[in-house]
Amino acid sequence: MAEASNSVVPQPRSRVRAIKEYHPPLGDRNALRLDFNENTYECSPRVREVLSRIASGDITRYPEREPVEALVARQLGLKPEQLVLTNGVDEAIHVLFQAFLDAGDELLLPVPTYTMYEVYASSTDARVVSIQAADDLAFPFERLIEAITPRTKIIAIANPNSPSGSTCTREQILEIAKRAPHAVVLVDEAYYHFYGETVADLIGQVPNLALARTFSKAYGLAGLRIGVLAAPAGLMTWIRRVLSPYSVNSVALACLPAALDDSTYLDWYVGEVLAARTDFEAALDAAGVRRWPSYANFVLVEIGPKHAEFVRRMNAAGILVRDRSSDPGCDGRVRITIGTREQMRQAVTALNTTLAALRLEE
Ligand SMILES: Cc1ncc(COP(=O)(O)O)c(C=O)c1O
Repeated sequence: MAEASNSVVPQPRSRVRAIKEYHPPLGDRNALRLDFNENTYECSPRVREVLSRIASGDITRYPEREPVEALVARQLGLKPEQLVLTNGVDEAIHVLFQAFLDAGDELLLPVPTYTMYEVYASSTDARVVSIQAADDLAFPFERLIEAITPRTKIIAIANPNSPSGSTCTREQILEIAKRAPHAVVLVDEAYYHFYGETVADLIGQVPNLALARTFSKAYGLAGLRIGVLAAPAGLMTWIRRVLSPYSVNSVALACLPAALDDSTYLDWYVGEVLAARTDFEAALDAAGVRRWPSYANFVLVEIGPKHAEFVRRMNAAGILVRDRSSDPGCDGRVRITIGTREQMRQAVTALNTTLAALRLEE
């Protein structure tokens, strides 16, 4: 049945009208998925085991976050009142922005960076102030410091950053937090396990520092949607006011303890990705493809004007990669997730064949 139309229909807030819908590239996904920075293998066998034991009766109850929050707090060396589990880091970003961004406030964003910061900011009444990285895509520290104003309310830093793979140092984060005491400095450590440096120990020590971690990447739980947001207990009070008590589902909560426990699996997967990244970078160098140094489970490469055709042909060869050309300062650049060594050998074969064909056509 066609939708009823009426000349008078409810109108959204003007801010919402201005937002561009965000569509992750889906479609034919029956290929090696090197386009979402996911774990490309499978989750821990211990998680699999928990999943197989979940009874239908378990699903009838509302989820209880607190016991699992206590476990995560212990692992991060924090107090339970300093964190909440969220429906992925995406929800962490959303609730942080909802709690802190008012009309007239500014969100400082070093760009290019993770798309969802801008998406969630655009449904608030705050202004996004982008700080463009130079061609080397290194963290634009000096420019970020210069952009701090009394209106700066949140500074969002992905560390390591996506899609560049670049990092900022602990000293830089501390300096930013010191220069903007009136702003929340969010450090999003989605790719922490592939990098190894953290500011988790500074949570509660630095009064305006917040931390996000996801279980979507190294742990391989992207489909369960679970992440964590940590900050001093005083700041968390405001975040709890806008957070749904049940946004993390009971299946995710049942699985997380097993995932946290299985360090053998985690170490294996991270080791595999780091070894594959080294091999893949060597293959890119041998193929004469410019790349940016990466501290995460992906590499950004320069393909140039034929970027869309490159992505299409890689896709046709069974390898999904992500065109980042529309990211600020990323024209002609493509991001490739690092999977296992075996998967990356397939990716190198497809890459070399695709590049050779495109070069022949020049
Ligand atoms: C920097 C960064 N933060 C957060 C996320 C999303 O994490 P989650 O799956 O927990 O929502 C991503 C996903 O690609 C990311 O790159």
